[in-house]
Amino acid sequence: MSQTRLVIAIDGPSGSGKSSTAREVARRLSLGYLDTGAMYRAVTVAFLDSGVDPADTAAVIAATTGADIEISLDPDAHWVRVNGREVTAEIREPRTSANVSAVATIPECRADLVRRQRALMDSDPRGVVAEGRDVTTVVYPDADVRILLTASEVERLARRGSELAGQVSEADLRDQVLRRDADDSLLVNFTQAADGVHHLDTSELSFTHVVDVVLALVDEVRA
Ligand code: DC
Repeated sequence: MSQTRLVIAIDGPSGSGKSSTAREVARRLSLGYLDTGAMYRAVTVAFLDSGVDPADTAAVIAATTGADIEISLDPDAHWVRVNGREVTAEIREPRTSANVSAVATIPECRADLVRRQRALMDSDPRGVVAEGRDVTTVVYPDADVRILLTASEVERLARRGSELAGQVSEADLRDQVLRRDADDSLLVNFTQAADGVHHLDTSELSFTHVVDVVLALVDEVRA
């Protein structure tokens, strides 16, 4: 493994802690940070904006492959633009979350975004921590460290619930966490660790502990 470039891939379902963990590990190791889910979300904003019906597969594919996506790799300055428009806040809105599976469940859309994600990860000379549903298996199976974070359903609902406090109903919360994961898992396995992927159940662990475990795994491969 190169001492100068390090690639860390973190997979997991909604509420497993992958985003906050990946961002903090990137900060601690002075690496880039790639939120691959933000790219699926950005494309969702683009197709909804242009009036595309989520059920119109051909139109969703065209909107995806034609989208100009720009995304920050700075863990301290997260922004996303699609087709020249800043959508950093909009990608987190319930309307986007409710429709993002329309992109995530189409293989052609996935292939296009995976290709762009690999290119982005290779573009950062420091290396990168990337997180998403398929980063350890499809986007970057040859990453130096690959980790699957999971957590119990109760814990994942509680974490997303506190992040979205007051913004969504209980039904919408369940839709965002459980229905979306069920839909997404039709094409991607993000609940079982593939060969060579470390599995960490974060249900009972503090955030600091999870970050420390990831940093220890990095130390092992660097030793
Ligand atoms: O991690 P997130 O909730 O921001 O991801 C948004 C959606 O994008 C989610 O429904 C699944 C999809 N996604 C994916 O299929 N593969 C990825 N690598 C990242 C996200």
